[in-house]
Amino acid sequence: MKVDLLQMVEYGGCSAKISPTQLEEILKYLPLPKDPNILVDIDTHDDAGVYRVNNDLALVLTTDFFPPVCSDPYEFGQIAAANSISDVYAMGGDPVLALNIMMFPAAKLPMEAYADILKGGFDKATEAGVRIIGGHTIDDFPPKYGLAVVGYIHPEKIITNAGVRPDDSLILTKPIGTGVILAGHRLGMVSDNDLNEAKRLMKLLNRSGAEVMKKHNIKGATDITGFGLAGHALKMAKASGVSLKINMKEVPLIGNSYQLIDDGCIPGASFRNLEYAEKNIDFASDLDYNLKMIAFDAQTSGGLLFSAPPDKVNKILEDLQSAGLLNSKVIGSVTESQEKCIYLNN
Ligand code: CO
Ligand code: CO
Ligand code: CO
Repeated sequence: MKVDLLQMVEYGGCSAKISPTQLEEILKYLPLPKDPNILVDIDTHDDAGVYRVNNDLALVLTTDFFPPVCSDPYEFGQIAAANSISDVYAMGGDPVLALNIMMFPAAKLPMEAYADILKGGFDKATEAGVRIIGGHTIDDFPPKYGLAVVGYIHPEKIITNAGVRPDDSLILTKPIGTGVILAGHRLGMVSDNDLNEAKRLMKLLNRSGAEVMKKHNIKGATDITGFGLAGHALKMAKASGVSLKINMKEVPLIGNSYQLIDDGCIPGASFRNLEYAEKNIDFASDLDYNLKMIAFDAQTSGGLLFSAPPDKVNKILEDLQSAGLLNSKVIGSVTESQEKCIYLNN
């Protein structure tokens, strides 16, 4: 039996995240544990938590899981694993161990699909040097998969949302548009080329981008996932106490994403992300509507967004190119804190 996972879900990948507005409302009432060894917690909306074990070692802990973003179980496993591991890379850590998190409808899908999802996850984890040493499965519909990941990091070399400094340049390592492409694919509006490019990018580990960040001693970064480019940029701006200017025409887009938005292909997650962020964002009066909406497109396994001193930018871009991240670009800059956190321009 040929399995098509996409038939089972309304929205997959990071588009299925709960609305950030609702999430923030709930998190307000959750007490945060107090412990001097907790170096990073959800206070700064960071990608992962960090816990100091001793003066030379801290653990990076993160988890992500979501419903299918593609039809093929093996590819879904690869993408979900790459996405889960990414939060360790975004903080400058080395991912080491993981556990599988699986929800699988045993009565609705053949067990081969279960095995294929796990195999995809295993192969991607192995590529990242991560050993999967256990997991947990619940019988549930639709299927969902991801990893809980543990990484190592030096306590003084943590890259966070809070490390962005005025006058830095903003660099993005992967083009955006996976949400639009996946939504368009369901409507039969996307070419095989664009779909394959989106899948290739979602499977691509953020390891090489993270290595470049570490080489150049970068302090502020995040990965772009469910809240979209503007949503994650907002979390960085708030955590760092700065404002970010983003020039949307500089942001590389996957394939035909721009045209797809013209054709009405805007996933619901984009509107939820916009609603959450808009009060903190200044939209240039001449901002192109399509570019505005793609700034909020939920990315699955998106690239790294980091800030770097302008005098290092050329060398960094060279290194990113050599690492195969051919679409890496400067997409904006950092200023002292202004009235709004984010200034979105053409
Ligand atoms: Co993240
Ligand atoms: Co995450
Ligand atoms: Co268990």
